[in-house]
Amino acid sequence: MANIIILGAQWGDEGKGKLVDLLTEQADCIVRYQGGHNAGHTLVVGEEKFVLHLIPAGILHPGKTCVIGNGIALDPQALIEEIDDLSRRGIPVESNLKISDACHLILPYHRAIDKESEKLKGTRRIGTTGRGIGPAYVDKMARIGIRAGDLAHPKIFREKLSQNLQEMNYLMEKLFRAHGLDLESLYSEVMTQGERILPYLTDTSLYLWEEARKGSSILFEGAQGTLLDVDHGTYPFVTSSNASAGGALTGTGLGPTMIDKVLGVTKAYTTRVGSGPFPTEQTGPEGERLRERGQEFGATTGRARRCGWFDAVAVRYAARINGLTGIILTKIDVLDHLETIPVCTGYRIGTRMVTEFPHHIEDVANAKPVYEALPGWKATTRGIRRWEELPKEAQEYVRWIERQVGVPVIMISTGSERSETITIQEPFPASS
Ligand code: GDP
Ligand code: IMO
Ligand code: MG
Repeated sequence: MANIIILGAQWGDEGKGKLVDLLTEQADCIVRYQGGHNAGHTLVVGEEKFVLHLIPAGILHPGKTCVIGNGIALDPQALIEEIDDLSRRGIPVESNLKISDACHLILPYHRAIDKESEKLKGTRRIGTTGRGIGPAYVDKMARIGIRAGDLAHPKIFREKLSQNLQEMNYLMEKLFRAHGLDLESLYSEVMTQGERILPYLTDTSLYLWEEARKGSSILFEGAQGTLLDVDHGTYPFVTSSNASAGGALTGTGLGPTMIDKVLGVTKAYTTRVGSGPFPTEQTGPEGERLRERGQEFGATTGRARRCGWFDAVAVRYAARINGLTGIILTKIDVLDHLETIPVCTGYRIGTRMVTEFPHHIEDVANAKPVYEALPGWKATTRGIRRWEELPKEAQEYVRWIERQVGVPVIMISTGSERSETITIQEPFPASS
């Protein structure tokens, strides 16, 4: 038995979905704890590809319980679409999914405000996914949020909605010069959605605690990545939740002493979607080649991802912020074509040399990466399943990352399929 957090150690899209799907085999409960349907987690099983946004990546495995914890911002419409899509594809969700009644709802006005406020920001825009994530978390912190459990109490729900709509419509009409929303139609739309969602709602904190006490293994599935964390990321170019390890606790209602391991997923290079500083970004043909080989297009919005070299400063920072116990290195096969591979060991900022991730965003924006060139392997690593079969240079690349980050690489992903994985050290103890 072990409770393990799997989270992104970069700016998201590191391959968390693939790994959570793979490790679900050995877990009992799989829980999402922050973010919402801004996430896009891709699972490839044979010829089939699934992209999950809200539902945990364990859902393909029958008999496992998937949990949406209280830290999630829940768009009822997006959830219903995802449930229906999975059901159409023969994946039953009804008996395997539990949702916290304390999740905050994303409502249509959150989406509208997200989009309008991005427009207003102009060149200072964050490049959000436009899913209403930020505005929903704003309401949560402002203590005017509407929670999933409110759907069970139509009168209370209506009162809260009516109050919020007054404020939201004022904002929409006066500030954004856009249309407001009608209370009656919004109320009936969300209540209809509520009928579909209510059966899943429960006190998931209690459920998970009881499971843990019975000896079940819990896999915590992070969304986004450490550098998009609202506290520890490249603020303000971040998402609006705690994508780092702390989010797994506040977003589920379990305590820190229940966590056994924290695994950081990182690509063998780096990507980022949306605005914000990205020191090792390659805007020329080398970045284009990484994008092409890695199929780096957003799983949620389809946007081309910005691509660049592996940044040891950033991942070392993620190791510190999360207390990582292990690294899962993905997409090493994407580097198969390179003669030499630039890797960043530090930043030059003005006349200073730094090896710790800067605390101020201006410093990150001005950081000039200092590169070392590691020898490439110029051979295919796609689908390799044993460490010994990796070319010597690829093994050295992995060892270099371990030394730089100070955390062991326990798994290596060599393709998008479940089987395309090298396990160096099993994350779950053998007895579980
Ligand atoms: P997540 O958000 O962290 O779950 O990652 P995404 O699903 O957004 O993006 C990762 C992409 O890389 C997906 O298309 C995966 O199918 C794919 N992928 C995952 N691991 C590997 C790998 O080792 N090699 C290659 N070539 N693709 C991978
Ligand atoms: P997964 O879980 C990559 C980025 C957006 C934007 C910023 C804020 O698949 O790794 P938001 O809509 O959250 O307010 O946008 O965060 N972003 C992601 N980037 N992967 C994700 O999720 C992301 N979710 C949000 O592009 O820059
Ligand atoms: Mg993704």
